Formats: sequence, structure tokens, C-alpha cells
Amino acid sequence: MVVEKSADFEVPEAQIAVHWREEEYIYPPSKFIAQANAGDPAIMKRFSESNYPECFKEYADLLTWDHYWHTTLDTSNPPFWKWFVGGRLNASYNCVDRHLAKNRNKAALIWVPEIETEATQVITYQELHRRVNEFAALLSDFAGLKAGDRVTFHLPMVPELPVAMLAAARLGIIHSEVFGGFSGNAAGERIADASSHVLVTIDSYYRNGQLLDHKAKADEAVLRAHDLGFDVEKVLVFQRHAGSYGSQTPMVAGRDFFVDEVIKPYRDQLVEPVSMPAESPLFLMYTSGSTGKPKGCQHSTGGYLSYVAGTSKFYQDIHPEDTYWCMADIGWITGHSYIVYGPLALGATSVMYEGVPTYPDAGRTWRIAERLGVNIFHTAPTTIRMLRKLGPDEPAKYDYHFKHMTTVGEPIEPDVWRWYYNVVGKGEAAIVDTWWQTENGGFLGSTLPGLQPMKPGSCGPGVLGVFPVVYDEDGKVVPAGSGRAGNICIRNPWPGIFQTIWGEPERFVKTYYEKYNRDPNSHDWRDWPYFAGDGAVQASDGYFRILGRVDDVINVAGHRLGTKELESACLTLPEVAEAAAVPVIDELRGRAVEMYIALKTGFTASAEMEEKVALAIETEIGRIARPKNVWIVADMPKTRSGKIMRRIIASISNFADVGDITTLANPEIVHDIRMHVQGEKVAKGDVPRELTNSELEEIKSFGAES
Ligand code: WT7
Repeated sequence: MVVEKSADFEVPEAQIAVHWREEEYIYPPSKFIAQANAGDPAIMKRFSESNYPECFKEYADLLTWDHYWHTTLDTSNPPFWKWFVGGRLNASYNCVDRHLAKNRNKAALIWVPEIETEATQVITYQELHRRVNEFAALLSDFAGLKAGDRVTFHLPMVPELPVAMLAAARLGIIHSEVFGGFSGNAAGERIADASSHVLVTIDSYYRNGQLLDHKAKADEAVLRAHDLGFDVEKVLVFQRHAGSYGSQTPMVAGRDFFVDEVIKPYRDQLVEPVSMPAESPLFLMYTSGSTGKPKGCQHSTGGYLSYVAGTSKFYQDIHPEDTYWCMADIGWITGHSYIVYGPLALGATSVMYEGVPTYPDAGRTWRIAERLGVNIFHTAPTTIRMLRKLGPDEPAKYDYHFKHMTTVGEPIEPDVWRWYYNVVGKGEAAIVDTWWQTENGGFLGSTLPGLQPMKPGSCGPGVLGVFPVVYDEDGKVVPAGSGRAGNICIRNPWPGIFQTIWGEPERFVKTYYEKYNRDPNSHDWRDWPYFAGDGAVQASDGYFRILGRVDDVINVAGHRLGTKELESACLTLPEVAEAAAVPVIDELRGRAVEMYIALKTGFTASAEMEEKVALAIETEIGRIARPKNVWIVADMPKTRSGKIMRRIIASISNFADVGDITTLANPEIVHDIRMHVQGEKVAKGDVPRELTNSELEEIKSFGAES
């Protein structure tokens, strides 16, 4: 990304020096080290660059292959890497069937409903096997799906979701789960993009004590897909409470079917797992980018499953006897990799929780941990901040003991890290801060918990077999310890890397590889560094500190929202002439979204109009994207060529210096906007703390390209 030249912004954002205090190392407890899966430093040698890519055989060998592979990494068509070529396997078999012989009665999933009086569901491997087979039979026979077809799930945190995923995987059907909190329209767009004729949903689920009508979203989704020229043939509806229908929306005859009814003929049917080539796609996971359309990240079967199994073993340190709880949502990549596929490939016990971590009170999370004897705990900084805010002293009241904890999704402030370590972990747990992305399948940056010390606020070095580097804008290495930031890239392919953007191979190459590619004709992976889109600094010890996105993506509570998606949602309103989304620093969510709106002539600003804008975003994307504030302004600050200067309004929202505005076409508007926005914020008591250097740089260069 090249920042527009002006007096204040001569240095590209990625190259600006960042200063902070280096945090001290914290060493994992000796009790943890003694039992760690990666406890012998020899593992670092096995995964050293000289053993790449063969080192990943160790991950692949955690799986059961129907047919063993002959080529570890095929680079014949860069950057469309192929892993474990020649191999065949089935992901469902690896996550379910192969554990039956020794562990059929072991809990595979423990599902905790949000309503505390409702019984916890323990699903053994035996029962999981039955449920997966029945649903696979239904997908194949009733829904007519086969290997290579796509199926969309729009499911919340209910056990039916992993069952459906594993059933699809059993048949080689590519699943595409859309986060349950997303709107029906967002689901509809993803359905059309993946062209999946079948949608699997549920009537309702609990969130914050309320039974939400979820089936209503399915109707919206089908409609939106139809508008986009794609027809959904069948909607399969699970029921949150067996035998009752928790939705106000009528079932559409011939299209909507209750799973409980149509599954009856398949009771006790067994479906042979389909032996899939290692390179066949396992699932799609959509994520936001800088342009409007979400990207369908296509993940492979063999490479992906090997990678999540390996990283679950060595970085999550999962042992057979552990109770592992990742409090993410399966609707995001974290849940796919580290609630479902990784832990189940290892035959572990994975806990799933339906609801809000602080419902009905701030002790809920810790009660679940105590009751189930959770000893590995995995969550995101935004949740840690919320748990701290609502119940700073709660963890001490409960008798649980974590040996290991994870943080993922956004940078964690050292202060929040320390609360996590001391209060949640009671000083007994090793912490891994895992940096990665939807595109990556699994962790890219983290400490090995038994072998490398923790450093609050840093994710650590590259993980086993992954070699990150920080480049400046010209592709020169920014040396470790220089104190300068740059663009973090990965020098080499790894098995978990996504295969392409569904239906958009050129966009895949352009977005992730074009920037630092040395030779488009080269078949040598060394010429194809992966561009992650994050700014980072590498300390002299090799640890990375991730600074956040360098593109027009806003990371809200660990979830990526594209500014273009937010803006186009607002532009669906007939009154809106222009819309610009900017990030504001938020104490709980990391970043929140603020929308700036200019109305068409003839329309006037009002509180109703602001609400309409917020609702348009909820309808198009989902509640998670609801802006913190909507500012209706007379005009946007623009360059002479008519581009909206997002960095200026972002600076206003964050009470940062707006810099030089003399080159704008309408500099006078900046003063008006500032008076309006900051005036109201001061009145509401919504003035942010002083921003750190890196936050300031992020704000001051936001949206520089548009
Ligand atoms: C973006 C990816 C991968 C699971 C969840 C998010 C940010 C992710 C960290 C971390 C600092 C992090 C990056 C990245 N991010 N983990 N440990 N420290 N930043 O997946 O929605 O694809 O978002 O989240 O900016 O690019 P995602």
C-alpha cells in the first residue's frame, strides 16, 4: 500500500518506526513443561528450514490415510500449492470413525446450552458417529448432494453444526458455514457465490437469555440468493427444542423440511466415508477484504487437516485426557480449526458453549470450566476484556485450573494479557498468543508453549515450519531488532494455506502474492512470499508484534469487516449519497466502526436517519457490524479528484490530529465535522484515552488508497 504523498504522510505507513517498551519474558510453569507435547527442543531442528517441506510429514502422519501420498509439496503451478499429492483420506473418518475402536465411549463434544438449567449434552464418539452417518445419509439421499457439491450452513453454536460439517466431509461435499450472527442477506450472498442448492439452518437459538428466531433469516437468505440469480432448492431446519417450532416464520411447503422428520428413514444407516484426494476442497470460509465482495477461502482436505491436527497437538498441547474448551464460534475459522477439526482429529474432548460468556452473570464461563474440569482454555482479547470488565475478581471464586490458555484474533494489550495470565490462569497456565487468519487454516505465529517463553503483546516467532519475514514497501527485509514496522509475509507455503478464493483465482494471486512476487514465471516457492496484510515489528529475539491490518479492513472484536461492505450496506438506502466507514479505538472490542454519511439533497439529518443506517448494516451484514456512531455530515472531506479522505474522518473520530488538509477540495468541512462529532462525543463522555504510536499511525493512514 502506498500512502498518498503529502507533507504529513511522506513515509508509507508500514515503514514508520514504532516505539514501545519491550516486555519481559515469562516462562511457562515447570509442571506444564514436564508434560508438554512439544517438550524436547529437537522438534525445532526437525522443523528447521533445511528440513522443509519434508518436516510436515510429521503432521500428515497424525492422520490415517487411505492411500499414502508421494509428493509432500508440489509447486508446479504457483502460487496454487499442492500438499501431500497422491494421498487420499476422509476428514470425517479421521475425526470420528478411527477413534471408535479405543474410545467409542469418550466424550467427543460436550455441548453447554446457554440456559443454565438445561442439561449439558455429552456426545461420545459412538454417538457422534451415528449422528454424522444419519445426517450424511440425508444429505446424500434426500438432498441429493455428492462429492464436490457445496452446502451452506447458517447455524449457531449447536452440536448439529459439527455433526453437519462432518457429515458433509464424509461425502466430500464442500461445506460453507456462515456465522449464525450474520444476517439472512449475508448468508444469501454467500449461498449464491458458492452456488449451494441446499441450506441447513435451525429454527431458533439462545443468545443473552433470549430465544432468537433464526429461521426468519433463512427466508431472507433464499430471497437474496434468488435476487442474485441463484435458487435454493431445499432448506433443512433443525429444531432447538425437539418437537416444537421456535420461529414465527412459516415453513414453505416443498422447500423447507424439519430435519427431525426427514431424517427418520435414515436412522441407523451407515454411509461409507468417501476417499478424497488430499487436494480436494474440504470447506469454504468467507472473510472480508478491501473490496466489497467477501472472499470464499477454499481449504483443502489433506493439508488443512494435517495442519490443524499438528498445531492442535503442539501449540494447543492437547492430550487424550484433557478437557479442551475453545470459546470461539464455529462460524469463524477458529472454530472450524480449533473446536472441530483439530481437536477431533486428535480424538480429544472439545467443549462447545451456545451463548454469551457473561450470561447470566460474569461467573458463567468459570462455572463451566469448574463443572467440566476444563484445563485448556482458548478465547479472544475482546472476550478477555469483557470478562475483566464485568467480573475482575470472578475467576478466583471458582475451582478450576487451566494448564494452557490461548488468545487469538487481534493484538492483546500487555495489561489485558497480565490479567489473563494472573487472574484467569491463576499464574498456573502457559499462554499462547496465536496470530493467523481465515486464509491460513491454522496458526502462523506463536510460541511453542513448553519450549519458548511468553512475551505479553507479542505472538512470538513463526510456528514450526513457517518462516515469516517483515518487508518494507520495496520488498527489502526490515531487520529484526530495527524497531521498524513493515508488512509481515510468510516466505514459504505451509499445509494449512487456503487453495484459492472460490471462483476468483486471479483475485487470489493478486491479493496475496502479487505484491512481493519476484518472478511470475518462477516455480520456486522462494519467489512467492505470502502477503498477510498485517503490519508487524520483529524484535531482536525473533518475536513478532502484530500491529493490525494495513488494508481497509476493520478488526472488530477479532472479526474482519471490510469498509467497502459496510459502505455498500449504507448505500442500499435511497437517502444516502455517500458513506465512509472508519475505525475507532474501543476499550472492549479493540476497534469499533463509525459511519460517516452524506445524504442526497432533499433529505435531512435526524436520529431516525442514523438508526436507519445502523439497521441497514445489521440487515446487510449482521449485528456484529453495527456502528458505534453514525455521523450524518453535510459533505465528506475529499481530495481534488473526489476521493473521500477516510484518514481525516478517522482522525476526527479518534481525537487525533487531522494533519495537513490544505490540499483538500473542501478543507472548511473538516472544521464543521470536527465540531459536530467531537462536540457530541465530549457531551457523551466518549473521549478515547491517548492513543499509542502504532494506533495513531493506523488511524492517520487509514483508507489511504481510496
Ligand atoms: C486478522 C485475521 C485467525 C483467527 C481469528 C481471526 C488479526 C489474528 C491475531 C493475534 C494480533 C491478530 C490480524 C489478522 N489477528 N490473530 N494473535 N495478534 N492480531 O481471523 O478474521 O481472518 O482475521 O486478525 O490482523 O490479519 P480473521
